[in-house]
Amino acid sequence: MSLFDLDAEDAKARHAALVREIRKHDALYHGEDNPEISDAEYDKLRQELEKLEAEHPELTTPDSPTQTVGAAPSSGFKKVRHAVPMLSLSNVFSEEEAEDFIGRIRRFLGLGEDEIVELAAEPKIDGLSCSLRYENRKLAMAATRGDGAEGEDITENVKTIQNVPQSLPNDAPDILEVRGEIYMGRHDFEALNKRQIEAGKQIFANPRNAAAGSVRQLDSTITADRPLKFFGYALGEISENFAETQEEIRQKLAAWGIPETPYKLCRSVSEIMENYQAVLEARADLDYEIDGIVYKVNRLDWQERLGFVSRAPRWATAHKFPAEQAVTKLNGIDIQVGRTGALTPVARLEQITVGGVVVSNATLHNKDEIERKGVRIGDTVVVQRAGDVIPQIVKVLEDKRDGSEKEFIFPDTCPACGSLAIREGGDVVTRCTGGLICPAQATERLKHFVSRLAFDIEGLGSKIIEQFYEDGLIKSPADIFTLEERNKGTLTPIRAREGWGDLSEKNLFASINERRNIALNRFIYALGIRQVGEATAKRLAGAYGTIENLKSAMIAAQNHESEAYADLIAIEDIGPAVADDLIGFFSEDHNLEVLDALALQLDIQPFEALRISDSAVAGKTVVFTGTLSKMTRQEAKAKAESLGAKVSGSVSKKTDYVVAGEDAGSKLKKANELGVTVLSEDEWLDMIA
Ligand code: IVH
Repeated sequence: MSLFDLDAEDAKARHAALVREIRKHDALYHGEDNPEISDAEYDKLRQELEKLEAEHPELTTPDSPTQTVGAAPSSGFKKVRHAVPMLSLSNVFSEEEAEDFIGRIRRFLGLGEDEIVELAAEPKIDGLSCSLRYENRKLAMAATRGDGAEGEDITENVKTIQNVPQSLPNDAPDILEVRGEIYMGRHDFEALNKRQIEAGKQIFANPRNAAAGSVRQLDSTITADRPLKFFGYALGEISENFAETQEEIRQKLAAWGIPETPYKLCRSVSEIMENYQAVLEARADLDYEIDGIVYKVNRLDWQERLGFVSRAPRWATAHKFPAEQAVTKLNGIDIQVGRTGALTPVARLEQITVGGVVVSNATLHNKDEIERKGVRIGDTVVVQRAGDVIPQIVKVLEDKRDGSEKEFIFPDTCPACGSLAIREGGDVVTRCTGGLICPAQATERLKHFVSRLAFDIEGLGSKIIEQFYEDGLIKSPADIFTLEERNKGTLTPIRAREGWGDLSEKNLFASINERRNIALNRFIYALGIRQVGEATAKRLAGAYGTIENLKSAMIAAQNHESEAYADLIAIEDIGPAVADDLIGFFSEDHNLEVLDALALQLDIQPFEALRISDSAVAGKTVVFTGTLSKMTRQEAKAKAESLGAKVSGSVSKKTDYVVAGEDAGSKLKKANELGVTVLSEDEWLDMIA
């Protein structure tokens, strides 16, 4: 029977069946990474659906798979931009580090000896962060954190979570974003796994994975079946202020029906430690998993002044519980070559569960570390895992040796390209000298280039990068963006490769093309310059605005006497060592060639902070000098930078403003000589108000 013969009733029934089938496979593929059918079979279903809809256009609904998957090729969820970024937290692991955290706050705010920093101590829930947005007191949107700036729209799934209120009482503000954690209770988790076993389905390793897997279901009826819960602990966008302290925020949220965890106000390090011990002891009896305590400065005006460093607030930190440990056997040591050529020894372990996660590898860091720990192949070792960090080897259990253990000889050549591997100066790292000829470095650089905080190209995972590199399809970053063009008219198109099909090929090109437009900070980070992480990339983007400016400044800075060099090391957190890596990168012809090739393919957006800040000081260069009375120098600098200004340590013709506090000296003099505008502290504060 051909499609033409189907009458309207049959067509409708077939349509519904196809939609159900496709949704099911979408869920298996995206939600559980566990497809049941091949790409080709899947493509066939979609083709049939497309044909059917062409014959019977009345069957095409806006949520038909023909209309939806194309728009969100890789995950199936719509992307949403957070009105206020969702941040992560810095960590402390000891009493000393907790004390340092408070010390930094005191210094930043310039607090007097007798002033107390009150902290709200809350359990750190081990779940999945989520932002709930209420508009006119109705739940309007729920989103995952994603990369912090952009997450995924999971509204339909969150609506199935029973303790999330769908609406708020009349005294709640018009716009209220609540940030919190979606989690699964311990008992619920055990019951779910029991059900999974009975149904012959996969079980989840721990409650966190179960929660994440349940939220990421494209079919919200599956989510509805999973026992998820929510805790609120912070705010995103709000239409009006309703609190002066973190404690008041939590009290208000609780009054509006948002589930809240207990918390405790602490006024000293000893109170912090007392609470830490108490919670650690109570931990096993809680029905939800926690992995530490979060401390938040209670006063919101202080939170505001403290602001953020990169992706974490200065006013909060997480005090992590000690790492969980387990004993296992070390079966071998492999050498991995990183994108900067570093040779990292990785221990291959007899599989074991540590803190609810299955572990089969642990890092040994470098040659010295292997010697210091005295690790031999065949040893019985203690392994530990803390938070998200890579598992580590704590020590060798020497009394478990039977004499068959073998010493590991650290290689003096690169296992990937055979080039000499050396340690430079006092460096603990052994590096491959192969540079461009080393395939391991090249593929690691490419993996970094497409990674989540860089170009974030879904569909180009590690395995695929390795295959495409090996087959010569992608050798350098710009090749990613010419792939589609080269794929046309070739006898060996990507869709013909094993595991690929029309749809996955189309989705890959869609996710590549989506990234031709890229923010400058992501672009800089993607280049993989040694020591230039996400935070430094952002600072560079903020300071130089465009890639052309950055490039010419780095070339000029090769001369260490130049103004360009002075400007570079005046940027927060950029010292001479980072500066040298940056300058080194931009002095290599092959790197400049990569930049030029990419420039032809991409639209690199100037740094966002400069564009979104409508502050009078956005884009201006400011120098602070003398003693400021209303804020510390660090606070002044952080504030100016958050408004999009560039803070420099030296006065030049390019300086827009010099803010002179008391006893200003040579910089003030120089400003007057050059005719640079000089502001008092109060004039500056008026300007940024
Ligand atoms: S506050 C700006 N409070 O921990 C403050 N986070 O490691 C941002 N988390 O992304 C977070 N319990 O998913 C905060 N009581 C709590 C928390 C908490 C768990 C999670 C959250 C965050 C991650 C950072």
